[in-house]
Amino acid sequence: MKKLWRHCHAATMKGGAYSIIEDAAIVTDGARIDWIGPRAAAPAGFDGESIDLGGAWVTPGLIDCHTHLVFGGDRSGEFEARLQGASYAEIAARGGGIASTVRATREASEDALFETAKARAIGLMRDGVTALEVKSGYGLDLANERKMLRVARRLAGTLALTVRTTCLAAHALPPEFAGRADDYIAHVCDHMLPALVDEHLVDAVDAFCEHIAFSPQQVERLFLAAQKLGVPVKLHAEQLSSLHGSALAARYRALSADHLEYMTEDDAMAMAQAGTVAVLLPGAFYMLRETQMPPVEMLRRHGVAMALASDLNPGTSPALSLRMMLNMGCTLFRLTPEEALAGVTVHAASALGLRETHGTLEAGKAADFVAWRINRPAELAYWLGGVLPNRIVRNGEDVALPSSER
Ligand code: NIG
Ligand code: FE
Repeated sequence: MKKLWRHCHAATMKGGAYSIIEDAAIVTDGARIDWIGPRAAAPAGFDGESIDLGGAWVTPGLIDCHTHLVFGGDRSGEFEARLQGASYAEIAARGGGIASTVRATREASEDALFETAKARAIGLMRDGVTALEVKSGYGLDLANERKMLRVARRLAGTLALTVRTTCLAAHALPPEFAGRADDYIAHVCDHMLPALVDEHLVDAVDAFCEHIAFSPQQVERLFLAAQKLGVPVKLHAEQLSSLHGSALAARYRALSADHLEYMTEDDAMAMAQAGTVAVLLPGAFYMLRETQMPPVEMLRRHGVAMALASDLNPGTSPALSLRMMLNMGCTLFRLTPEEALAGVTVHAASALGLRETHGTLEAGKAADFVAWRINRPAELAYWLGGVLPNRIVRNGEDVALPSSER
C-alpha cells in the first residue's frame, strides 16, 4: 500500500551530511521508500493514504551499531568501587568485571534474559532506534552464547526492530580455560563459532583485543576462522592501550573497529583504505572517566567514516539512550551535531553491513524513519536525555511501543 508523508522537512543523511530537503514529501510503498523529494516535485495523481506530519523533521531511523544489550544482573557495585579509585583493569583482575556478568548471564534463563533485554530495547526504540546490533560475549561457552544470540533473534521477532547479531565469544577468558587463552580461541574457532553460524545465529564476529583480553595473534586466528565461514568481522580495539587491533581489523576488511582511543595514524590510514568504520563509544569513555580521546581530527583527515553507539553494557556503559550519545559525541569528542547524526544513521548502517538498505532516506531503502517535533536537526544532539516527541515509522508502518518497565 502506498502512503504519502508530507508537511515535513527531511535530513536524508545522504553522503554523511544532513542533505536537507525542505518542505519534503516521502512516498512509501509497503516497507520501502518509493520516492522522496521536495513536495512541489512529488509524483502527480497520488491516490493512496496521505499523512500530515505537522511540520516535523524527518530523519532515518536511528541505528545503534554496538550494544551488549543481553546480560544478567548489573554492576552498580563496581561503579561505586571505581568511584573510590579501583580501575576497570584491577576489577577485572580480581574476578569482577566481565567475569561477574558472565556468572549472572549463565545463571539467567533464556526467558529472563529476553524480558530484561526487551525492556532495554524498548527504551532505545522510544527514542527513535529502529535497528540495533546485539553482541553475545557473556556466555563464553556454546550453550550460553547460543542462549544470548537466540534472545537477540527473538527480539527481532517480537519488536518492530532490525537486529544484527554479533558473536563475541572472544570477549574474555571463561573460568574453565583459565591460563589457557590459546586453547580457548582454538575451541571458539573449531567448535563454538561453526556451530553458532550453522544455526544462523551469527551475522558478524567480534573480539576484545586488549592486554586484559586477547592478543592480536589470537584475534587473527579468530578472524581467519570467521573468514572461512564467510562471516564479516569487527573488533573492540585500542580502548585501553595501543595494540594495533584496528589495523589488523582493516586487513580483514572489518565492518568496524570500535573504541579507538589509543589508535595511531597508521591504524587510521589502514582503516580508511579498507573502508572500515570507526565506531566511537562516548558512554564507555565517560563512565571510565578516560582522558585519552579518540583521534577524531585524524579520522576526519583520513576520511574514515565515524559511527557513534551506546555500547550498552552493564560494566562500562549502562547507556539506555542513543540520543544521549549524540550529545556526548559532541561534548566529549567534539563531533559536530551533523557528524553525530551521521554516526547513528548512515555510518552505523555501514558498521552493520546494512548500508545498501538502511541509514539514509532514499528511494529503494527501508521505510524506517522518525518524524521529530523539533525546530532544527541539531536539537537531536542538544537535549540531554528525556524522550523527544516523535513518530516512529518502520517498514512503512507506525511503531506502537508497549509501555516499558525494567
Ligand atoms: O565495549 N570492552 C569490552 N567490552 C565492553 C565492556 C564489557 C563489560 O565490561 O562488561 C565494552 O566496553
Ligand atoms: Fe563493547
